[in-house]
Amino acid sequence: MARIVLLLMALSLISILPLLATAMFHIKGCVYCDTCRAGFETNATFYIQGAKVGIRCQDRKTMDEVFYTEGVTDSTGTYNIMVENDHHDNICKTVLVSSPISSCNTPDPGRNRSSIVLTHYKNGVLNHLHYANAMGYFKDDPLPQYCHQLLKYYLSDSDV
Ligand SMILES: *[C@@H]1O[C@H](CO)[C@@H](O)[C@H](O)[C@H]1NC(C)=O
Ligand SMILES: *[C@@H]1O[C@H](CO)[C@@H](O)[C@H](O)[C@H]1NC(C)=O
Repeated sequence: MARIVLLLMALSLISILPLLATAMFHIKGCVYCDTCRAGFETNATFYIQGAKVGIRCQDRKTMDEVFYTEGVTDSTGTYNIMVENDHHDNICKTVLVSSPISSCNTPDPGRNRSSIVLTHYKNGVLNHLHYANAMGYFKDDPLPQYCHQLLKYYLSDSDV
């Protein structure tokens, strides 16, 4: 029994060692199409496959760009981007780069970016997976009747 416990401990150590050595971050988030131009996710929102997302880090003092990489969303509109090295002295964010849907490629100015903190220690806890806020594009021609109903529903809901 004790041997099994030791073996399990050794195995779990081995599995986290490469992460520590390379200081890899995993940034996860999603990109949606705001069908009714609501400015937030609704039940009419759909998630965009093949949207390009960038991760940009700037020096805190000079604001020079010190790091940039890109990723693409999968069929669920989710991107997973790996970043190496600790960026604790940088200001980092995810940004919208492009949408493959021509009728839904206007970035929502309020949802076109998400701040991320790329450092392993968050409140003293070792942390590799970072969630970014969802980012969205506005659809060009919201269905008037349908969206009116939908927004009425959401806005009245937030009043109570
Ligand atoms: C969204 O929710 C509202 C309120 O429940 C409903 O009336 C509407 O049909 C829903 N729309 C979709 C696309 O599910
Ligand atoms: C997001 O939109 C705002 C308002 O239009 C703009 O000032 C800002 O530069 C945009 N940010 C990105 C990362 O595109």
